[in-house]
Amino acid sequence: MAEHLFVPTGSKREKYEELFPQIKSLIESESDLIANMANVSAMIHATFGFWWTGFYRVLDGMLVLGPFQGPLACTRIKYGKGVCGTAWREARTQVVPDVDLFPGHIACSSASRSEIVVPIKLNGEVVGVLDIDSAELNTFDEVDAEWLEKVVEVLIGTESRNK
Ligand code: SME
Repeated sequence: MAEHLFVPTGSKREKYEELFPQIKSLIESESDLIANMANVSAMIHATFGFWWTGFYRVLDGMLVLGPFQGPLACTRIKYGKGVCGTAWREARTQVVPDVDLFPGHIACSSASRSEIVVPIKLNGEVVGVLDIDSAELNTFDEVDAEWLEKVVEVLIGTESRNK
């Protein structure tokens, strides 16, 4: 596929339905995880206009900032800390309707109001997270969780195929 995104329109579900095959088609021919994280963050960000869309990878026992779209962000997050560290520890998606109500939320940006963090698992182990912040409350729900979990599965599949 050419490096071009046909920006999806319609309802949230319709957007994911149009976005997902484009993501799949773009990243499945590339095995470098960082390159694919970069394009995936750009595609999600362009489709939904979120505040911040990006990745953290587990490196030397911490979450370390990876490719992202949006304003500057915290570089390192400890295990179990913030929404990202919680998704890592619990190995499951965190949907946060109001970040002010999440104990220990790490405010990289004061504009962030709601958040979703999806763990990326390789052979059952969390190797990173996809983190998305919205400037509005209540942006994310089970539809986002369902589709973003599919996205990270395809993403890590491109990596593990080459191991
Ligand atoms: N809010 C996150 C920190 C990362 S930034 O949102 C990019 C957290 O609580 O883990």
